[in-house]
Amino acid sequence: MALFGKSKKPGDTTSQLPQILPEHVGIIMDGNGRWAKKRGLPRKAGHREGAKTFRTITRYCSDIGIRYLTVYAFSTENWKRPEDEVGSLMRLFKSYLEEALSDFKDDDIVVRFIGDKSGFSPELQALMTENEESSADRDGMVLNIAMNYGSRDEMLRAVRGICAEVQQGNLSPEQIDEKVFSAHLYTAGQPDPDLIIRPSGEYRISNFMLWQAAYTEFVIMNKLWPDFTTDDMDEALQIYSQRNRRYGGV
Ligand code: IPE
Ligand code: IPE
Ligand code: MG
Repeated sequence: MALFGKSKKPGDTTSQLPQILPEHVGIIMDGNGRWAKKRGLPRKAGHREGAKTFRTITRYCSDIGIRYLTVYAFSTENWKRPEDEVGSLMRLFKSYLEEALSDFKDDDIVVRFIGDKSGFSPELQALMTENEESSADRDGMVLNIAMNYGSRDEMLRAVRGICAEVQQGNLSPEQIDEKVFSAHLYTAGQPDPDLIIRPSGEYRISNFMLWQAAYTEFVIMNKLWPDFTTDDMDEALQIYSQRNRRYGGV
């Protein structure tokens, strides 16, 4: 948990962020389809607008000193959607991986993907790896982009990995503890999310970071993701800073 939130803009002494900032924020970027529907536009127009919000909010989180940001972009269940929607999302991912993510260079952001990359086309997979490799040595905020991510899938992979180690004789069943399990997840080595924000007003987790969110604070916001602003982010951070986290204690 970072103390002493920075002032929003250099020289801005009036608007201070809360003193207690989360170290790791997760965002379920939801509501693109409804945003488009409200305007009589195709769903893909909502995804395009949502991608712009992603860019703004990521930059903002980095500017104010968030250390880890995990955004849920595409779930293991989202393949169920109509072919043309999935197709337009893949095209959007491609253009982002080619252009927008290189923008994050100026902000020193480390880009990582969590999820099963093998579900994507070889072209997308190569772009993902390229983005990870070219940003690995930066020392700014870590941005995890959850793509073809499902928490159940992630946990099953961890179980398989642990079983293989036991089978090879490198680990005994008694040695399997929370630390070992966490180290087999995509988020290995990272702190658990302190705060998860879900815009669009849905009160559910939709297979996102089930293990990691054991003691995460949730903030549900009644804004569709394309309408989500830095002020909404401030509001979520403000709500978070007033929560009393007890972790089962008193
Ligand atoms: C989130 O917005 C983006 C993805 C899941 C890829 P939705 O597309 O789920 O938008 P709604 O929930 O239908 O409004
Ligand atoms: C969760 O949103 C996944 C992402 C935002 C990528 P969904 O729209 O897929 O979740 P449900 O279907 O409302 O639970
Ligand atoms: Mg949705």
